[in-house]
Amino acid sequence: MVAYEEKTLLKERFFMNISLEGASVRSRMLERFECQTVPAARAVPNLAEDVLQGFARRPRALPPKYFYDALGSELFDRICDTPEYYPTRTEARLLDQSAHSIIRQARPDHIIELGSGTSRKTAHLLEACEANGLEPSYWPFDVCEAVLHAAAEALLEAHPWLKVQALIGDYSAGLAHLPQPAGRRLFVFLGGTIGNLTPEESIAFLSELRGLMREGDAFLLGADRTKAPRLLQAAYDDARGLTAEFNRNVLNVINQALRGDFDPYAFDHLALYNETLQRIEMYLVARHDQEVHLMALERRYGFLQGERILTEISRKFTAESLTAELRAARLNPTHHYQTEDRYFSLVLARPN
Ligand code: SAH
Ligand code: AVI
Repeated sequence: MVAYEEKTLLKERFFMNISLEGASVRSRMLERFECQTVPAARAVPNLAEDVLQGFARRPRALPPKYFYDALGSELFDRICDTPEYYPTRTEARLLDQSAHSIIRQARPDHIIELGSGTSRKTAHLLEACEANGLEPSYWPFDVCEAVLHAAAEALLEAHPWLKVQALIGDYSAGLAHLPQPAGRRLFVFLGGTIGNLTPEESIAFLSELRGLMREGDAFLLGADRTKAPRLLQAAYDDARGLTAEFNRNVLNVINQALRGDFDPYAFDHLALYNETLQRIEMYLVARHDQEVHLMALERRYGFLQGERILTEISRKFTAESLTAELRAARLNPTHHYQTEDRYFSLVLARPN
């Protein structure tokens, strides 16, 4: 695991903005906070390699994890509050209704959340724990350090009993080095983020997670459901243009990391529902012919007007396809919670 010095450094970075009057409150919060990086369990391409490989394909493509720098996480959080983006509020309502049932089944000593983001919805699970006399530790795992810090601060303030063990890492690099606390664990993967993985990636990821699970552990998966394409398309193309900004931000991330000169506004945002593959496809579409220079790669890339970069897929599930994916990873769904409109599902599963 991570060296003590690094843990201390990560912790100090978290509390850098300390103010004098808040100092004692914050120092008490500090006692309930740990932060560590999760080392990669296998080599995965870095941003430069992903760009080289992704831009060699047609259509050009980028992995969605690069959306989430501090600005990207902030934009995603704002998307969640748009009227068109139904998944967050629907899942929040479902969690509100089902959290007691979930917590009574799982009775966790630890809640380990993958791709936790702001952890806003996880609050429902923590409140249900409180009400059932449980005080689990919370282990949020995310690739975006900034969002982990913001989430931990809000949770520590709201729950004086809570211990937060923040984990910085990339789950596509494997889960083998995740800490393995003793006791019953509830693994959580919310928001429909499973849909951002291809079926092959998803089954590999779920199987890996299944491999970590012991008897008594449980897994809670949130997944978005198929529905009228116009509703799906609107959710990924909100009128305020936040999704468009979120999409374009990946070009800023590349510019920063690879000394590039992408003009994000030379690209249009496009979200299409692919009915055959039951997935939203998000693209950036070149508005005119252009050449982009990525200095760190010593490469120039030409884009013709109308040329697309695939930046994200977001798969939508039926109850059956969702259950099948879990079973393919030797996870046995025991409870399925869904809203009346069947917009979103939460499935509680056990290793089998
Ligand atoms: N679960 C939250 C956030 C969803 S957004 C919710 O339901 O609202 C997806 C989150 O997954 C982001 O916070 C992003 O930083 C994180 N993420 C994306 N790819 C990741 C990866 N490969 N490893 C770890 N975290 C990742
Ligand atoms: C994080 N993930 C589940 C979001 C989704 O709905 O696929 C990311 C997103 N992309 C555009 N809007 C939201």
